[in-house]
Amino acid sequence: MTTPQIIKQGAEAKLYIGKYNEKRCLVKERFVKTYRLTEIDKTLTKARIKAEQKTTKRCENAGILVPKVYNVDFNERKVYMEYFDKAMTVKEFIVQVQKEKKLEELDMLMKRIGEVIGKFHANNIIHGDLTTSNMLINPKENDYDLIMIDFGLSSFSTSHEDKGVDLYVLERALLSTHSDLPDLFNSILKHYKDINPSTETIRKFEEVRARGRKRTMIG
Ligand SMILES: Nc1ncnc2c1ncn2[C@@H]1O[C@H](COP(=O)(O)OP(=O)(O)O)[C@@H](O)[C@H]1O
Ligand SMILES: [Mg+2]
Repeated sequence: MTTPQIIKQGAEAKLYIGKYNEKRCLVKERFVKTYRLTEIDKTLTKARIKAEQKTTKRCENAGILVPKVYNVDFNERKVYMEYFDKAMTVKEFIVQVQKEKKLEELDMLMKRIGEVIGKFHANNIIHGDLTTSNMLINPKENDYDLIMIDFGLSSFSTSHEDKGVDLYVLERALLSTHSDLPDLFNSILKHYKDINPSTETIRKFEEVRARGRKRTMIG
């Protein structure tokens, strides 16, 4: 047997090229966390896999581009999904755009990101881990698709606070990962409001952010 081609080995899971029904796919296998009680670990892993499965369906229904989920295996802790072999993460894309000094690319990208997150929230889908590593750029002729991934922490909620927290997580991630581009989040938020114009969500987001600031000042 040949060793599988590893795509990523993270803290939660490893991702590698595998097969499902003779078809090439991506396998996301979650690790057993030995420091957790076995039953708790099983329950948590199952919840994460179920979230990936459910949110994939919800996104498909909402017209949001995501990898197809072919199958899940709770015992082996695996999700079998569509693999985009030509894709790169938005994080990598932004770094490349900076290197090649094609910053005008960023406006279109921020518009796409704002609109897709607006679509998430308009459909009451909370991503739970909005970072530029959890978005893929899949190239097509003279253009690309923006594909959203990694729904292990996602949920379904109508709560403005949950949506506000989702936005706050993204703002923090952008500030730490792309600290040399401090305007990214505002640009995203502008386009987000076109799709999800709820002032209540924005009010909650600002409240969550103020709380975060206070914590940073104390801690
Ligand atoms: N369907 C996919 N096609 C191509 N690459 C993917 C796909 N899913 C994930 N990846 C790559 O693997 C990385 C980790 O996947 P992710 O689902 O975010 O797992 P983790 O929980 O480890 O963050 C992503 O940042 C991306 O680079
Ligand atoms: Mg991820």
